[in-house]
Amino acid sequence: MRRFGMHIPWVALVGLTACAPDQPASGAKLYRDNCVACHGLSGTGAGPLAADLPVAAADLTGLSARNGGEFPWVHVMATIHGYHGQDTQRLMPGFEAVLTGPTILWQAPDGSTIPTPQALLSLARYVETLQAS
Ligand code: HEC
Repeated sequence: MRRFGMHIPWVALVGLTACAPDQPASGAKLYRDNCVACHGLSGTGAGPLAADLPVAAADLTGLSARNGGEFPWVHVMATIHGYHGQDTQRLMPGFEAVLTGPTILWQAPDGSTIPTPQALLSLARYVETLQAS
């Protein structure tokens, strides 16, 4: 057996593990792939499609500020998932179909435990990082 040949399978395995298809996508990637068109890269609502929308794409950098300084986790995740409240005009599509992968038990700020797609939580955590304050 040749000496070099032994190392090749390990290199291949490491590569496979790094991009395994069931690895949950990062919140940043999910945001870039699904949200930037309307909300813009920084979340201010200035995406390339925004000017053509009949309703302004919400400014996601002010979610906490508009909610008394608290990030509105449940509202954000419900909006993204697709359970719209009556206060929206339902222009934004729901993203349930792209939030594939494992579901975890997430503890909401009110203490309740809610089965939540991990991808949805990653996305909400990313949106939280866009807060201006
Ligand atoms: C087709 C354009 C469009 C896309 C794509 C889109 N949104 Fe929206 N979004 C809107 C509009 C318009 C609103 C304002 C409410 C409505 O009309 O539905 C909104 C509202 C929201 C709200 C509620 C804001 C508030 O002030 O309560 C959140 C949170 C949000 N979007 C997050 C996201 C995230 C995260 C993504 C990507 C997964 C996304 N949106 C993709 C158009 C879009």
